[in-house]
Amino acid sequence: MVDVEIRELMQPFVLSDYQVQEVYSRFCNETAKGLRRSTHEQASTKCFPTYVQDLPTGDEMGKYLALDLGGTNFRVLLVTLKGHHDATVESQIYPVPKNLMTGPGVELFDHIAECLAKFVAKHDMDKAYLPLGFTFSFPCVQLGLKEAMLTRWTKGFSCPGVEGHDVGQMLHDAIQRRGDAEIAVVALLNDTTGTLMSCAHRNPECRVGVIVGTGCNACYVEQVENVELLDPNFKRSRSQVIVNVEWGAFGENGQLDFVRTDYDREVDRKSINRSEQLFEKMTAGMYLGELVRLVLLRALERNKIFKLCPKRAAFVAVLQNNVDIFETKHISEIEEDSFPEFASTRRIVKELFGLDKASVEDCQKLKYICECVARRAATLVAIGISGLINKIPDRKVVVGMDGSVYRLHPKFDSYIREMMQKLVKPDKEFDIMLSEDGSGRGAALVAAVASKST
Ligand code: GLC
Repeated sequence: MVDVEIRELMQPFVLSDYQVQEVYSRFCNETAKGLRRSTHEQASTKCFPTYVQDLPTGDEMGKYLALDLGGTNFRVLLVTLKGHHDATVESQIYPVPKNLMTGPGVELFDHIAECLAKFVAKHDMDKAYLPLGFTFSFPCVQLGLKEAMLTRWTKGFSCPGVEGHDVGQMLHDAIQRRGDAEIAVVALLNDTTGTLMSCAHRNPECRVGVIVGTGCNACYVEQVENVELLDPNFKRSRSQVIVNVEWGAFGENGQLDFVRTDYDREVDRKSINRSEQLFEKMTAGMYLGELVRLVLLRALERNKIFKLCPKRAAFVAVLQNNVDIFETKHISEIEEDSFPEFASTRRIVKELFGLDKASVEDCQKLKYICECVARRAATLVAIGISGLINKIPDRKVVVGMDGSVYRLHPKFDSYIREMMQKLVKPDKEFDIMLSEDGSGRGAALVAAVASKST
């Protein structure tokens, strides 16, 4: 049992039933506003139509390239779809150098095109015609399947010259400038769409795709008559379309102010996209570790943790001077730890803060801090997923999930399910499945489905 002082400190992170219900109904109102033409402009959750309307059947065939850009790494993949719900994937990961995340957009796309060219040469495919699906995991207004205009950068990117531009065209231009590979950009998609598609490839009941990784977002299958922004020509041809909710931006109209804490405001103040992506800043891997650092600092300053530690002053200084020193992966490691050994917790506090002997009580307290931050994130994600499930007409809905937080955190899945049990309507059934490489396989599937329907 953690002592009362730490419980008090963490109280602002523990959402009451009333708060959960209130966030739930505000979220549902906001997504409804995002879909309607007359209210779309004011809505924080933009609910962008994706122009992906056909879910895969499993019999897709052929070789496709996929490109995945959306976090600290990007990947190039060669996906061979073999029919019978089967696919093989060969891929290569490239780090995105820090300077390219904030430098001129053209340089970012030139770098991507260079990696692409090297990749196809390595696979002896440089003479072949290759269709490419581009997973670009940032908010975009789609004008068609292969035209996507970036509305704003998120997740630490800020390259000038890309917002307001068609990123499919920018990639195409960069490939043309090199002129050494025959690659056609045939589809652009968000990572949530890729996740939904790759899960639907294996399970036709999948209707929602969610990412809880560096960023946090979801998409779902909506009836076209509810998607007022969709081009009327598309409406006539199909009954449904995937909608990219961009729920990371939820809260920008003040809807989350009643649950945001001082720590959330501090994370926002220090970010490069101030006042933006407020839901994301409470749920995504880019921010959860930093929230724990801020709480830990407050706990130390108020003498609520590591009370008897002889090196307290040095510890406080390390925490104060090193933004982001505590990473979200540390939350996962600490929550995995067991009483009374706390082997990972002790290793982490030694490595990061130089503390030799953390007591069992201090380890317990730190674990509780991590648990409250992660549980609140999972609760918010569950609120969003339940809101989407409850508006989907099907009785059973499967949710495809991916992202480093979801994959690595030992209890995130159970925290989400626990909250969903309370929020999903009782006449509905749900399940969650882990996506197998949505951004790669999913991109190839969108490219394949697109080629099929033209
Ligand atoms: C950010 C992006 C969104 C993406 C998510 C997960 O929220 O804006 O497009 O899906 O991160 O990567």
